[in-house]
Amino acid sequence: MDIKREINIGLLGFGTVASSFYHIFSEQKKELGSIFSIPINIKKIFTRGSGHPVPENIKKLTVKNAGDILEDGSIDIVIELIGGIQPAGDFIIKAVSNGKSIITANKALLAEHGEEIFKKCTEKKAHIGFEAAVGGGIPILRAIKNGLAGDKVKSVYSIINGTSNFILSKMTNEGGKFGDVLKKAQERGYAEADPSLDINGTDSAHKIAILGRLAFSTSLSMADIIIEGIENITQLDISFAKELGYTVKLLGILKNEDSKIEARVHPTLIPSSSLLSKIDGVFNAFLVNAKFAGPLSITGYGAGGNPTASAVMGDVIEIVSRLVNGDIHQDFIISKIKNKLNVKSKKEIISRYYLRFSAIDRPGVLSKISGILGENFISISSMIQKGRKVEGSVPIVITTHEANEEELLKSVRECDGLDVISAKTTVLRIEDNIS
Ligand code: HSE
Repeated sequence: MDIKREINIGLLGFGTVASSFYHIFSEQKKELGSIFSIPINIKKIFTRGSGHPVPENIKKLTVKNAGDILEDGSIDIVIELIGGIQPAGDFIIKAVSNGKSIITANKALLAEHGEEIFKKCTEKKAHIGFEAAVGGGIPILRAIKNGLAGDKVKSVYSIINGTSNFILSKMTNEGGKFGDVLKKAQERGYAEADPSLDINGTDSAHKIAILGRLAFSTSLSMADIIIEGIENITQLDISFAKELGYTVKLLGILKNEDSKIEARVHPTLIPSSSLLSKIDGVFNAFLVNAKFAGPLSITGYGAGGNPTASAVMGDVIEIVSRLVNGDIHQDFIISKIKNKLNVKSKKEIISRYYLRFSAIDRPGVLSKISGILGENFISISSMIQKGRKVEGSVPIVITTHEANEEELLKSVRECDGLDVISAKTTVLRIEDNIS
């Protein structure tokens, strides 16, 4: 066994998470060195100058060329905190090819190219840690891959994007306007560089792809995930939901029933008495239902420099421990991702639905809508119509009993073709049993 006399880290990027990581690492460096009985150093930092200003005392560590880290034989662990698909992807593949272990928070890269990266790690016997890619400071991946390693995950309901949750909670609790609240989330550093990825559900879907692979030991691609964002949620929907006893949340949902999985991200009406409905602001939360352990829940900061850097620190300690102890076995969960379980398409989803029609206030409108729903076997559970005029039309809200999504969407399209319907109908899913 190759005895390590020191462990050297190369840091790629110096943005919000990397600069927090540097500070947390510096605070703990001495203690880490004494736990492992060898020095652990950040040896080099690659920065393109666009991130946080590098403090004067560590400027000597900076390099302008990532190759100075990737090709440096004395560097054991490369921490990629640049984000984006390229050049981050090439840097990781190069680092692994050169025998280094990897830590990354890059959810987009792992969601879209994770399986190639895992394959490369398996081939080169490299360790990889990516706890920071999902749920910020919440150790959800470790809970699933280690804590529940001997169990079977049946479902995960999650609030997995801090920015969307921040926006929806402010709209719900303070009546804030979408655009104003988004601006606040950006100012606080929660949102992605391109905030549309937060709002349109893509960021949540990236995390669901990563989580789903670990939870079900399956390969899972972005194309397998049903993705809808919160961009069309209005105050009207939030207040109708409240009236019906529900709260609107952007959920990431994973289910495994009879080896057929569901992977979806969409705004959802959940009971206002449920645990997830109480998770506000930038907080993320996960409700995991396992075959033997039963229901488990975990919540915490899902974004921000320090929480995400804390997850990176956890990976550093795990990988340093493996390197120091000469553990050449890889994270066994990664090598388990071999099979491809069937993923349910939209057509196969069964759910309850909230429908908000915009109708011209005229006799007979309701019977036309309910007639179309009835012909398509959609059973109505409740109905609200009030004289609230929204740009000349009246909102009619209908909730349905469980229905097949394909039939539901077909009947909504038919309703939208009626001359008494003045705008596209809002369709939201309702989840009553979230545990
Ligand atoms: N933009 C992400 C969020 C950051 O809002 O949750 C953490 O991944």
